[in-house]
Amino acid sequence: MHIGTTLSQFIIEETRLYPGSTGDFAGLLNDLTTACKFIGAQVYRGGLAGVLGSAGTDNVQGETQKKLDLISNEAILKSMDWTGHLAGMVSEEMDNPYPIPHSIPRGKYLLLFDPLDGSSNIDVGISVGTIFSILKAPIAGRDAEPADFLQPGVEQVCAGYALYGSCNMLIYSTGYGVNGFTLEPSIGEYILTHTQMRIPDDTSEYAINMSNQRHWQEPVQRYINELNAGKDGPRKRDFNMRWVGSMVADVHRILCRGGIFLYPFDLRDPQKPGKLRLLYEANPMSYLIEQAGGAASTGTRRILDIEPTSLHQRVPVILGARNEVERVVAYHRD
Ligand code: AHG
Ligand code: MN
Ligand code: MN
Repeated sequence: MHIGTTLSQFIIEETRLYPGSTGDFAGLLNDLTTACKFIGAQVYRGGLAGVLGSAGTDNVQGETQKKLDLISNEAILKSMDWTGHLAGMVSEEMDNPYPIPHSIPRGKYLLLFDPLDGSSNIDVGISVGTIFSILKAPIAGRDAEPADFLQPGVEQVCAGYALYGSCNMLIYSTGYGVNGFTLEPSIGEYILTHTQMRIPDDTSEYAINMSNQRHWQEPVQRYINELNAGKDGPRKRDFNMRWVGSMVADVHRILCRGGIFLYPFDLRDPQKPGKLRLLYEANPMSYLIEQAGGAASTGTRRILDIEPTSLHQRVPVILGARNEVERVVAYHRD
């Protein structure tokens, strides 16, 4: 029997495309995927492992943390802090960057992550995931400062996610397209199953939380009203809607079969220009979407060009099929 291409093999072969590569990056990505296997195993044991429910604490964004948010956060920190590849880490679940322990050499990369995305779906058996973004540290070999993480998304050297859905999948890009791997549980390896994922320019499927409609601005109101008008409306065809409520799952669907995803600007709270966080949700997902031929915008600008101002800053997100994203951007211009 042929096992197929393992993720480790793929990473090493891809790293050879970069002249002078030391193997540091391949090691880093490998260790990260081990954490994703561990987190997936906890998610799939669910109620059996006593990992469901609230942890009784709040994170820096004022959101209640689930036990699995904290278990996943700890799994990534502990899988990554000893490797010598990193100069620091930023997580959704921690106010400040996580420093590398004193005894460990400081590396040349920064890791930013959402340890468990889709927290509201953990306890009800719906797909969740882990989102990650890797940057180069401005100065290798010393402790990263908070400002070091504030790099625009175009500077990412790698972005990806693990999806804990009907199977455990690992999707990532280092700038040579997007490839997907499926965990083969019998041997504990991710195997290449989705080569060079592409998003069609057009779609008839959209994802948005409709319950926020009254808070949206005019351009998004107009766009969604036109989709909902279907065959009889200006778009002259019916559109279908899907909203999982886990960004990982909604973006994965778009990478697999196309679509557009919107978590737009809304007027609920002027302190929060959107819900999703730039550094470890919007940026990595926008990188993958662009690498797959799609587009990602706030409505007024390309997400990957935004100069971040704080670690947990939020942004409006509109991403997916190129022609649909461009239409929403055009409505904002109007
Ligand atoms: P997280 O669980 O990491 O806080 O992220 C949840 C995010 C994202 O995954 C999803 O697209 C969005 O929140 C769903 O928000 P609503 O509950 O407002 O639909
Ligand atoms: Mn999230
Ligand atoms: Mn999360």
